[in-house]
Amino acid sequence: MSIAKKEYKRITVKSLMEMKMAGEKIAMLTAYDYTMAKIVDNAGIDIILVGDSASNVMAGYETTLPITLDNMIYHASSVVRAISRSLVVVDLPFGSYQGNSKQALDSAIRIMKESGGHAVKLEGGSEVAESISRILTAGIPVMGHLGLMPQSIYKFGTYTVRAKEEEEAKKLKEDAKLLEELGCFAIVLEKVPAKLAKEVAESLKIPVIGIGAGSGVDGQVLVTHDMLGMTHEFNPRFLRRYLDLYAEMTSAFHRYIDDVKSLDFPNEREQY
Ligand code: KIV
Repeated sequence: MSIAKKEYKRITVKSLMEMKMAGEKIAMLTAYDYTMAKIVDNAGIDIILVGDSASNVMAGYETTLPITLDNMIYHASSVVRAISRSLVVVDLPFGSYQGNSKQALDSAIRIMKESGGHAVKLEGGSEVAESISRILTAGIPVMGHLGLMPQSIYKFGTYTVRAKEEEEAKKLKEDAKLLEELGCFAIVLEKVPAKLAKEVAESLKIPVIGIGAGSGVDGQVLVTHDMLGMTHEFNPRFLRRYLDLYAEMTSAFHRYIDDVKSLDFPNEREQY
């Protein structure tokens, strides 16, 4: 289905609010490097998230905990150099904001100053309220992140759906309201029941972007390497694969190896 949408030369936090009000869904994807970010930006994505999922996707760690602030700044600055339209949101990594609000502000300032990103994202609700307020006082836009929070994986114990029970759902709704009141410009809701996510999105003025949170929210985010099928060992129900790049790339690498071994590459036209 094609939807009439306003053309934006550059996406800002204000554009996202307008999209929510106009009922236009927000499309967000991750990128961690220049080349991928250029393709994603040129394709017209609204938000590029330099996610701490770089810890898994780029560095091969099992969790998002090991990635550092320096690593995030490196990835984010590569992405910023590539983009001309998307809003670039950068994750504050584990350990860079949980200490206190001064630490959170210092980390957010480093991201903005050293990478050129446009906003930061951090995980948590009331526990990080003071940090969010302090970052916002410096004029840095903040995106919240509730539901499954991978930086708390050792507290949760699993990556399964969150807030299925009434008590956790109630806390999530209160936290979402609080994040809006504090001044966050959007919230990511990860892996929560679709009915709850829809209720949260409908109760807030700011956009709610879902991942594994159903269709009743204001936008969707996926990890680009997953939706392109570059990763193949990660198969959650919410993931739609648009390509099987793992197979495509493997086939290309096989053909290249065969061509080199058989002296087919380079040929006459491919040399000087
Ligand atoms: O780091 C990340 O990629 C994320 C998304 C899963 C929302 O936080």
